Amino acid sequence: MKDNIALIGFMGAGKTAVGKLLAKESGKTYIELDALIEERDGKSIADIFKLKGEKAFRQLEIDIIKETAGKYNQVIACGGGAVLNRINTDRLKQNGVIVYLEANAEAIYKRTSRYPGKRPLLNVADRMTEIEKLLRERTPLYEDAADITVDTSDLNIREVTARIMEELERYEGHHK
Ligand code: S3P
Repeated sequence: MKDNIALIGFMGAGKTAVGKLLAKESGKTYIELDALIEERDGKSIADIFKLKGEKAFRQLEIDIIKETAGKYNQVIACGGGAVLNRINTDRLKQNGVIVYLEANAEAIYKRTSRYPGKRPLLNVADRMTEIEKLLRERTPLYEDAADITVDTSDLNIREVTARIMEELERYEGHHK
């Protein structure tokens, strides 16, 4: 049985908040890849982007996913760009079910307004246009990697978590 649950999806899709609750409800360990990267590198994500660039960040992300994907019984909240490197989702699938938290541009815009400066890729003059552009580029990658998809646009954290638990039961039922 695959016993990790990897949450993928765009910035602001709810991966962190849902991941924490889902871990509690399912008795798994909560792991946030961005937090591990920050710990490992001793810098915030924003500083890594600023000082080393996105390419260096993506390599740190690949390294940390390689280490994490082989461990057990975890809910893994991925950064929104983890799907950009196919090797990441291949590794996460080895011992995990991939859950795609979908969200529309309006929901993402609203949710990412809360912590300005936290997300270097959205630190631009026209955030909505950037969100729409990145969503267009990434949606096929999220869809391709997903075992289960939940649209979070009109749901709260509890509702999304409950939906994932239901979908997992159905999914695992098919794979036992
Ligand atoms: C990124 C998403 C961020 C973080 C980094 C890059 C992305 O994580 O990994 O800023 O490329 O979408 P969240 O999705 O948790 O904001």
